[in-house]
Amino acid sequence: MEEQLKEIIKYFIARLTNLFLTEEDFCQLYDLASNVPENGRIVEIGAGAGCSMVAMAIASKAKDKGIKLISIDSFQDANYLKYEYGWSITKESALTKFLEAMKFWGLDVKLLQEHSALACKGIEDGSVDLLFIDGSHQYAGVKADIINYSPKVKDGGIFCGHDFQKCHPGVVQAVGEMFGKNFRVFKDSSIWRRN
Ligand SMILES: C[S@@+](CC[C@H](N)C(=O)[O-])C[C@H]1O[C@@H](n2cnc3c(N)ncnc32)[C@H](O)[C@@H]1O
Repeated sequence: MEEQLKEIIKYFIARLTNLFLTEEDFCQLYDLASNVPENGRIVEIGAGAGCSMVAMAIASKAKDKGIKLISIDSFQDANYLKYEYGWSITKESALTKFLEAMKFWGLDVKLLQEHSALACKGIEDGSVDLLFIDGSHQYAGVKADIINYSPKVKDGGIFCGHDFQKCHPGVVQAVGEMFGKNFRVFKDSSIWRRN
């Protein structure tokens, strides 16, 4: 594992009760993001505490390569994270942790604090080099995100997401239904990617 990625994981272990990504997820996402071209654009749905955005931004060398970073999170339900994951991080602390992480890593991220179905209206079609879906984990929410954001991804762009696993049946159902056989899940990780 790259030294910088080790540092990122160490940073979040020190600040979160539970990481949003496993080490393997971090590695896969890091690897995917390293392919984003100069002046590209990375969009994620589900800012959370910032684990995924820091990994993608650092891996892509966003600052040096002029890559634009956009993170979307409605931070709607105060107890969302607690209910969904049983983790002791609430909505308010997720937002604080996200902002702290961006500051610590010196990242210039445009944070859209709104529902993904609204946020998509401000993102041009065919403009995204890497889309990472990690917002709603319910069937209808994941399906809506895939439908709404498909046109946003450039031809040949990376269209991926998190939590393709048994404990998130909504993700499994929506991704399977929307992509058929045209996607893969990385080994030892719950990151999925459209082929
Ligand atoms: C699993 S967490 C994201 C973790 C984040 N990717 C990280 O690595 O730290 C999911 C987040 O998605 C947000 N969310 C859920 N449904 C959403 C939606 N439809 N639109 C915007 N944000 C949403 C929640 O508020 C929550 O913070």
